[in-house]
Amino acid sequence: MIFKILLIVLLLAVAAPFLIKFIKHKSLYPFMPFKYNFKRRRVTFAKTLKLLDERKAKMIIETGTSRLGLQNTKGDGAATIVFGKWAQQNNAKMHSVDISEDSVNGAQNEVNIQGLNDTVTVHLNDSLEFLRTFEEPVDFLYLDSYDYSKTDTEIQVKSQEHHLKEFQLIENKLHDNSIVLIDDCGLPGGGKGKTVVEYMQKKDWKVLIDAYQILLVKN
Ligand SMILES: C[S@@+](CC[C@H](N)C(=O)[O-])C[C@H]1O[C@@H](n2cnc3c(N)ncnc32)[C@H](O)[C@@H]1O
Repeated sequence: MIFKILLIVLLLAVAAPFLIKFIKHKSLYPFMPFKYNFKRRRVTFAKTLKLLDERKAKMIIETGTSRLGLQNTKGDGAATIVFGKWAQQNNAKMHSVDISEDSVNGAQNEVNIQGLNDTVTVHLNDSLEFLRTFEEPVDFLYLDSYDYSKTDTEIQVKSQEHHLKEFQLIENKLHDNSIVLIDDCGLPGGGKGKTVVEYMQKKDWKVLIDAYQILLVKN
């Protein structure tokens, strides 16, 4: 009897790290291969993908591109590839804009690898310039540019103001069925979304999920 109990304890001790790793692994399978861990963004990415399906989105804009392609699903999110893949499967288009040549090259490389060139256009530009001149209706807006700092309050405010300006520049291209997702919100100081979400809530937008990312739709 003692031997059996010891054996079970031993097996549990050996299996525990694997079980914990499995539970912590937040994949978007079957939409994305199981190996990619979307961690704290899984819940909002999954809901956004569902909304994109339901609302039959045709135009997606992302500010701040997937500079490391699919290599950093945990850290950055790899949204260019996730939503680009959705767009390709659903006959939609995606524009991703970034101010850094390195980031654009990194994202473009993965777009090429994934065969998304017919669907995803990666633009080298300041997001504010890009949004100012964008002419078409936008069904899904993903704000994730100006890098946030957990400690530097000056950078925090600049990032928050930048994301507010982005929204204001494209606001009139959004409509009653549009979806807005803002990254890096669950951070000290309120994250990238603090100021823009306050603004949006005064303008009839409703928060659907308030987590690491904030997901909003029209009331
Ligand atoms: C966190 S990364 C974006 C991650 C990406 N959305 C993803 O899901 O993998 C932030 C990016 O924003 C870009 N960025 C910073 N300021 C910007 C601006 N004013 N206009 C456009 N992009 C900007 C940076 O160059 C960087 O590549």
